[in-house]
Formats: sequence, C-alpha cells, structure tokens
Amino acid sequence: MSSAPILRLGSVKDVQRFREHLHSLDVAIPCDRELVSPAESPFWLPLERGGIRIGNRMAINPMEGWDGTPDGNPSELTFRRWQKFGRSGAKLIWGGEAVAVSPCARANPNQLVMAPNTSKGFARLRSVLIEDHRKTMGSDDGLLLGIQLTHSGRYCRPHGHDRPEPRILHHHPILDRRLNLPDDYPVLTDAEIAMIIEDFHTAARAVWELGYDFVDIKHCHGYLGHEFLSAHTREGKYGGSFENRTRFLREVVEGIRANAPGLQIGVRLSAFDTVPFRPDPARSSNGKLGPGIPEAYEHLIPYRWGFGVDPQHPTQLDLSEPIRFLSLLEELQVPLVNLTAGSPYYNPHLQRPALYPPSDGYSPPGDPLICVGQQFNATRQLKQRFPNLIVVGTAYSYLQDFLPYVAQPALRDGWVDVVGLGRMILTYPEILLDAAQGRALQHKRICRTFSDCTTAPRNGLPSGCYPLDTYYKHSDMMVQLAAAKAKR
Ligand SMILES: Cc1cc2nc3c(=O)[nH]c(=O)nc-3n(C[C@H](O)[C@H](O)[C@H](O)COP(=O)(O)O)c2cc1C
Ligand code: SF4
Repeated sequence: MSSAPILRLGSVKDVQRFREHLHSLDVAIPCDRELVSPAESPFWLPLERGGIRIGNRMAINPMEGWDGTPDGNPSELTFRRWQKFGRSGAKLIWGGEAVAVSPCARANPNQLVMAPNTSKGFARLRSVLIEDHRKTMGSDDGLLLGIQLTHSGRYCRPHGHDRPEPRILHHHPILDRRLNLPDDYPVLTDAEIAMIIEDFHTAARAVWELGYDFVDIKHCHGYLGHEFLSAHTREGKYGGSFENRTRFLREVVEGIRANAPGLQIGVRLSAFDTVPFRPDPARSSNGKLGPGIPEAYEHLIPYRWGFGVDPQHPTQLDLSEPIRFLSLLEELQVPLVNLTAGSPYYNPHLQRPALYPPSDGYSPPGDPLICVGQQFNATRQLKQRFPNLIVVGTAYSYLQDFLPYVAQPALRDGWVDVVGLGRMILTYPEILLDAAQGRALQHKRICRTFSDCTTAPRNGLPSGCYPLDTYYKHSDMMVQLAAAKAKR
C-alpha cells in the first residue's frame, strides 16, 4: 500500500481537492465536480430486471445492532434503527441486518433470530420501516425489503459476547490459532450441515409468510456461507471442488424455492479477500495499535484458505472463482447480488475502510481510499461481466462529504446498479436523499469512521453511532464504552 500520509477527509473543504487526492493515490474511484439537478439525478432512476422492481438506486446495507432481546426479538433500539432505514428514502433495504437461522447460529447473544417466537417482532419491524418510508417518500411503491439470513459459523457466540463457540467447516492455519482451536477441534459434519440447511429453509418460509420480498443467503465476512467457499481442504461433498464448495448455496436455494415459492433470493458475497491482518508490533505503543500488516503466510503457499484470492499471492485478489460464482447465481435465477469484501474479524481495513480502527483492529495500513477503490473496482468488473444481475455496491461511507459525488458517476457510468450505504446510515440516513433532492449536505452528521459502532459490540454493548447520535452520546452506554476503551 502507498506510504503517503493519510488525508483526513473531514478537513477537505472542496470536491476539487478531493479529486486531486484521488488522482495522487492513483485509485480508480469516479468523482464528479458537481451534483446534477434532481430531474437528471441517477439516484431516482427506477430499476426493473428479472422480475424485480426497485423504485430508486439507493440501498441500505445490512447492519447488525447487537441489541435484540435474549430470545431473538427486536428491542426498541432495533425498531429505532429500522425507522431510520425507512426515513433514508432508499427503495432497497438489503436485509436490515444479519438474522440468525437458529439461536445457536448467532454471532452474539443479542442477535435477532428468525423463529416462531419472533414473528410478531419481525412483522412490527417491517411495518415501522414501511410507515416511516411512506412518511418520507409519500408512498412505498417500488420498496423492496429483504432479510439477511445467516449462520455465524466460526464466529458463533450465542451465549456470551466473550464466549466464542466456533462451528467450523475446515481448519485454518491462522484463524484457528486466533481462536485457540486445537488441531482436533471438530468440524461440522455433513449431517449437521444438512440440519443447518433445513434451518435456512424454515427461516425463509417464515420471512415469506411475514410479507418480506426477499432473503439474502449470506456469503460474506467469514461467516458460515463464506467459509464454504474457501473450504478447499475439507473432505467430502461440501469441500474441495468449486461444485462441492457451492453445494450449500444450491441446496439452500432449492429448498427455499420449494418452501417459499414467490420469495425472491439474493446473495451478499465477499467477492474477494486477503489474508488475516494484525497490528505491526514494531509500530504499536502505549495502547496505540500499529498499522495493519499481513500475518506470515509465506509458508502457506499455495494458499488454500481463501475465496477470491490469488493462491500464489494471497494478498492479491483473483476474481476467477467469484466470476464462476456469479455465473452460478445467474443459472440459479438468483438476480440480486450485493458485493462486499473480506471480514470485519480478520481484515477490517478492507471490509469497512476507516480512519480510526476498532478496538480489536489496527491502524490503517495505507490510505483507506485504496481499499474503497479495490471494492469499487472489483464491483465494476463483475457488474460489467454480468449485466443481467442487479448489483449493489458497498464501502461508500469512508467517502464522507464526497459520497454523493462518487455515487452519482458510479451509477451513471454503470459501475454498479444500486449504491448501498452502511455506517453513514447510523448517523445521517438522509444523505443521498438530500443530495438527490438538491439540498445541501449536513456536514455535522457525516460519519467520520470513528469505528465505535464496531468497538461497542466487541465489548458487549449495542452497536450505534456513539460519537454523533445523541441517543448513545448522552447515555450510560457511552460511559461503558469509554471504560471499555480505557481498560484496553
Ligand atoms: C456496526 C456494523 C454492523 C454490520 N453488520 C452487518 C451485517 O449484519 N451483515 C452484513 O452483511 N454486513 C454488516 N456490516 C457491514 C456493512 O454492511 C458494510 O458492508 C460496511 O460497513 C462497509 O460499508 P460502509 O462503508 O457504507 O459502512 C456491518 C457494519 C457495521 C459498521
Ligand atoms: S461510530 Fe458513527 S461515526 Fe463512527 S464509524 Fe460508526 S457510524 Fe461512523
């Protein structure tokens, strides 16, 4: 990565300076000099493809809140967040957040679970979102609302945020060490996988009965669906060949079609990855995390534990298998794809580019715009190759005040079909709406990538924008977060 000093975007006042910075980094991120009038804005263009209609080009990417009740129901904090999703004006709500297919599949004890005892909670989530959406947009015409279904696999923590209970598909020479897993730690058996697949079928049926439009079969960020794709070393019918590594996807899709006909299906995919990173010990001091460096991997070549990575040079991407995966989605008539990268657990700089690291991360190894550019470039290549799929893009929040100036050409020039926002929604859900309606941006509400929304859950607290959202800023939770950070 470039060793040039990182430009703090919060201090950049005009788009020309931002464009010059992009140029100096030599990253492929498009950026317009000005925003066009609402009548010409690509944000408003409806999209109709493969039997799916989306009323505009704005999407909310899934964001877990760690704030459900212990029995898997939404809490008042969850409702509050979903109302924000509605108020954003986005016509595509991609999953809202990761929802576990069973209690033991949770990544934290406060994750939502799709189950008979939570159906009323999910019905209310849907209705509060739609109500706020109608208030903002005048109608819910063209609103497409999905649930992201997940099994947390290696990152299961159903009974305590500090009590990992990994369910792994294969051993990983670096990640097993991080989780202190012995060589004989059991991998999920094929019979256990069959039961998990059934859980996906049952959960998807419940989603359909509740009136949601689609489910996302999550294949990203190191969770179970993603780990299948890198199960090169697993024996048996779910490991080894591409066909075996995608069997989980095919079996889940097949059962959803049988159990919930009419429910649309999407996949959120980590389209590429890199090896796990850690803070450089030589440059860490006094509680300050050093810049991220890759874990030693030279003795692991060819690297057989990644998806979308070059086995000879695993810090570099290789899109040949992701291309096969998207072809398979086309074949299965799965029209919705949301592209992301890496994992928040082992390479957060790639997955959610930020100026400030989360408590279990490291300082940025280079200008975070480089990783934004990597995600954009991979998405662009895949979009160009698969014009019939509806492709949602990711990693826009780091662009801060310049987000709409980048999103506008990304849509206009076909880099992506729909722009998906994550962290920015926690603090300024209306950012794209303001831009598309020709209003000035509210700079005080811009996400500055402080990463507290990731640090809080790592310390057992609900996620949320602690620095900018007054609800958290003036709460007891802020005090607890400060104490957790000081202890580190
Ligand atoms: C607090 C938090 C929770 C997240 N939870 C999920 C999740 O449940 N499912 C998912 O696919 N991605 C999740 N993500 C990743 C985001 O959807 C998104 O990919 C990432 O934040 C980068 O986009 P951004 O730059 O707009 O924030 C989460 C991110 C954050 C910050
Ligand atoms: S805590 Fe707030 S400002 Fe910080 S990254 Fe999260 S949303 Fe952005």
